[in-house]
Amino acid sequence: MKLWGGRFSKGTAKTVDEFGASIGFDQKLYKEDIAGSRAHAKMLAKIDVLSDEDLDAILTALDEIESSIEKGNISFMEEFEDIHMNIESLLTERIGYPGKKIHTARSRNDQVAVDIRLYLKTRIEEICGLIEELLKTIILMSENNIDVILPGFTHLQHAQPVRLSFHLMAYFEMFKRDHQRLTDCLDRMDVLPLGSGALSGTTYPTDRVFLAKELGFAKVSLNALDSVSDRDYLIEFQSDASILMMHFSRFCEELIIWNTSEFGFVEMDDAYSTGSSIMPQKKNPDVAELIRGKTGRVYGNLMGILTVMKSLPLAYNKDMQEDKEGLFDTVETLKSVIPIFNEMLATLTFNAGNMMQATKMGFLNATDIADYLVKKGLPFRSAHEIVGRMVLYCTKRNCNIEDMRLSELKSFHEDIQEDLLEIARIEKCTDAKISAGGTSKENVMRMIEENKKFLQLLA
Ligand code: ARG
Repeated sequence: MKLWGGRFSKGTAKTVDEFGASIGFDQKLYKEDIAGSRAHAKMLAKIDVLSDEDLDAILTALDEIESSIEKGNISFMEEFEDIHMNIESLLTERIGYPGKKIHTARSRNDQVAVDIRLYLKTRIEEICGLIEELLKTIILMSENNIDVILPGFTHLQHAQPVRLSFHLMAYFEMFKRDHQRLTDCLDRMDVLPLGSGALSGTTYPTDRVFLAKELGFAKVSLNALDSVSDRDYLIEFQSDASILMMHFSRFCEELIIWNTSEFGFVEMDDAYSTGSSIMPQKKNPDVAELIRGKTGRVYGNLMGILTVMKSLPLAYNKDMQEDKEGLFDTVETLKSVIPIFNEMLATLTFNAGNMMQATKMGFLNATDIADYLVKKGLPFRSAHEIVGRMVLYCTKRNCNIEDMRLSELKSFHEDIQEDLLEIARIEKCTDAKISAGGTSKENVMRMIEENKKFLQLLA
């Protein structure tokens, strides 16, 4: 019989059991559910709802159930709908009467809420750890490639030269923010919902501070109605995950472009590339493409839960059972994407020669030459126009500005001297970006040092 069967004169239709059961996926929460029950039982003993003997029997049985699940010796029953009622049935099956008391002062509504928070807290910690490993790889690669220069792009058109380390450290900033966002999310979710009952609290002197201590929560929620209706924490996590995946997707897209024969800026390690079943010459960046693709499913999971929660009246509604599969999927996706991206990045070969060669195209020094004229006393707008004319002239002759003879240069402005050639050197242009956060070597070394401190603080 169903744990809630008393009010019914007949059993549910088999189709309804099948349709409504979440045990197929929420069995993932067995550890959290058992941890919640342990704490709840101890609390019930503390407020004299359970005797010491009841408590002993419950705790021993919960331990046994947990290890039986881990050994694969338990088959969960669809008839019992979800992980909460499956565990409760297993408990009663083992110890009888005391098992029937475990659900005193508790509802599945506060139970599921505490389970998801417990689950997500540990998963966010794991994901943050994986991000930290990636951040370390980025630092290492930036240090190892500090003197490599490549074209910086806007509109995917050559713009100004930058250091490769500067480009990599831009991604460090993004992943650092992802780490900070997830840490914030973790802090905000570190609140105990258990003890809220179905929606309005319990008639027992439930010791929620004790429960919070037992389960490792920093705080106790203030409003029972909100506690059982709230899924903000997992929506927030899904949002943070979506932003993180967007960063991966951008990075992957750049690596895919850099890996083309047209660019030839990077070569992926054979171990992180795949071939074609028909074209013998192919070496494809599948890992990067698949990560870019997986961004779609994570966004989908965010849209899914936002749409489920939209318009739900307070408090619990069965719709909310749809919160889990997308959540588990996003967690699993991040746990596979972050380490494999890290491996792919760490084994990448940068082709510094091709990068430098590419800096010779597209007038990357044009802004620096305009700045040179500004230093000679011209307003920037006039300097911009003069260099624009130089570019037009050189484009027609298929040469660079620095290839012109001094007399040709002087025809654009009489104040131009020999020293322009030094200013126009790509290395010089790169190191001339002295404003804080710019791409000069000194600046990039500073960002690396600052960010090493960030990583040390996390350790
Ligand atoms: N399996 C349910 C879920 O995941 C647990 C909560 C059920 N609560 C209820 N009042 N039916 O949402």
